[in-house]
Amino acid sequence: MSKIAVLDFGGQYAHLIATRLRGLGVYSEIHLPGSAPARDGRFAGVIFSGGPSSVYAEDRPDFDTAWLELDVPVLGLCYGHHLMTQSQGGTVERGKVHEFGPAELEYDKNCPLFKGIPHPSRVWMSHGDEVTNLAPGFKAVGWTKDCQYAALENAAKKFYSLQFHPEVVHSVDGEAMLSNFLDITGIARDWNMGSYAPILMETIRKTAEGRKVFLLVSGGVDSTVAFALLNKALGPDRVLGLHIDNGMMRLRESEAVMDYMAREGFDNLRVVDATADFLSALEGMTEPEKKRKCIGQVFLDVKDVETAKLGLNPDEWLLAQGTIYPDTIESGGTKNSEVIKTHHNRVDAILELIEKGLIIEPLAELYKDEVRALGEELGLPKELVWRHPFPGPGLGVRLLCQGATAPEAPTESVTKASELAGAAGYSASALPVKSVGVQGDGRTYAQPLCLDGKLDWTVLEKLAVEIPNQVRAFNRVVWRAAGVGPFVAVEGYMTRDRLDLLRSLDAAVTDWMIAENVYDKIWQMPVALLPVACGGKEVVVLRPVESREAMTATFWPADEAALGRLCTRLLELGAGSVLYDCTHKPPGTIEWE
Ligand code: XMP
Repeated sequence: MSKIAVLDFGGQYAHLIATRLRGLGVYSEIHLPGSAPARDGRFAGVIFSGGPSSVYAEDRPDFDTAWLELDVPVLGLCYGHHLMTQSQGGTVERGKVHEFGPAELEYDKNCPLFKGIPHPSRVWMSHGDEVTNLAPGFKAVGWTKDCQYAALENAAKKFYSLQFHPEVVHSVDGEAMLSNFLDITGIARDWNMGSYAPILMETIRKTAEGRKVFLLVSGGVDSTVAFALLNKALGPDRVLGLHIDNGMMRLRESEAVMDYMAREGFDNLRVVDATADFLSALEGMTEPEKKRKCIGQVFLDVKDVETAKLGLNPDEWLLAQGTIYPDTIESGGTKNSEVIKTHHNRVDAILELIEKGLIIEPLAELYKDEVRALGEELGLPKELVWRHPFPGPGLGVRLLCQGATAPEAPTESVTKASELAGAAGYSASALPVKSVGVQGDGRTYAQPLCLDGKLDWTVLEKLAVEIPNQVRAFNRVVWRAAGVGPFVAVEGYMTRDRLDLLRSLDAAVTDWMIAENVYDKIWQMPVALLPVACGGKEVVVLRPVESREAMTATFWPADEAALGRLCTRLLELGAGSVLYDCTHKPPGTIEWE
């Protein structure tokens, strides 16, 4: 079978390229760029991914130029665009404007990469470096307001490169561009997702040969699909599930998970309430990565206690996880990638078990949309498969914590951001707290900027792109939907009271989505509670997003009247102010931590 090689330079979206190609009916393989390609004639094309490095950095990933000598079409994306240019004799430099988020692409209609695509086309940028001189034989075939060499072509060699990311859904015609590239390679479209479940089950049977499998089931989409798949592949006698209530679940979530599993006929699932273990381990902790690692470790400790109680022989059992691909990549789990955040299923102790071959992760290559397709294949009910995603650590990553010292943005950054906001009719203030973001394949940890003024989603969206692009001190922009008065930093930790307040606010948001008939329109709507007070009460953030697989997301603008009803309810429940996150991903992440 012919295939496409995707060279992984550590970009957040490298694997996404492979999943897109699968969606387009083509088999693709991820390769490390430093390894030489097999010259067996099976590669019909090569794609260079993006990556966090600069092509001029000393520690940039190794690259074997033999990939360019296969005499097949090559497509470079972002870092790959820079590498293609540099390796062919052009130049790349640090850009004057760092672009993160949407841009309008204009292009040369004769270029086959853009066949059948509307003009102009909205594309998704995430870069700091830019091409400044073209390599011989290349010409510009696409450009945006801030980037004159957004698309390049060497028609004779069939080499193409793009500064933006066609693999993310927020590049509106990106999939069509990738499809056009496949046409350029001439590869046959004979791969399909429907045939994938039997292959996955066969792999599970091989990996688990002679052993049984123990799985932690949070009740979310991924772990439930993994549990169903393992049951089908191995039979219920060789699978045991454990649901750990970590005290950071949604309101009545654990009961709902157990009820659902019983209804579906799974009786090989146990439940344990470990709230006290988690809260005592997290006491006084404020730093997001420490919190995440601690939560991941306590899951394992509780699992060990429970398996010992059950008298399970560790030599007979593998630990299964519902890990999906973004969990690995965002945790810095591929060779050249950066840690954006450590997912609960990627803490050190798990990495050690992986090394020892004691972990099985049947969904590890998949993205959320593929997991959902697989869930449907397995006959799981639609309402489960299409539930909003909920992170493994639960509300733990939505309850922001802070000690006595709060961050203070530099005066010049506040002034610059205030000027940009002021020109659009908003006043701006820096929130005295930090949140995690992702820019140009790297992690950021910076303050959000809050805008006060009349609701105009178009202007707010523009500011939420412009401000983090121009003022590095801010990685998010929120709009104050309710509440008045200054923001005051307060100390706040992982306590039962704060968790209960967040749980009730989160439940009100879910009720609102259902009552207003918008649940199915929103991909996910995290609710975060900040260690910041307004009028003496803590501030809540709404983070509704649209996405397909969580690697990129756009904020979801709510109807003003409906949002007003939600704000009234949240203030009644004890929020001091309601903030609405208008940041896309990048530069924000979906969760605040
Ligand atoms: P971010 O915040 O990285 O989130 O944009 C992307 C998606 O991943 C979910 N998420 C997690 N899921 N364990 C999980 O199972 C985790 O540790 C974790 N952290 C984030 C998040 O809710 C979103 O859907």
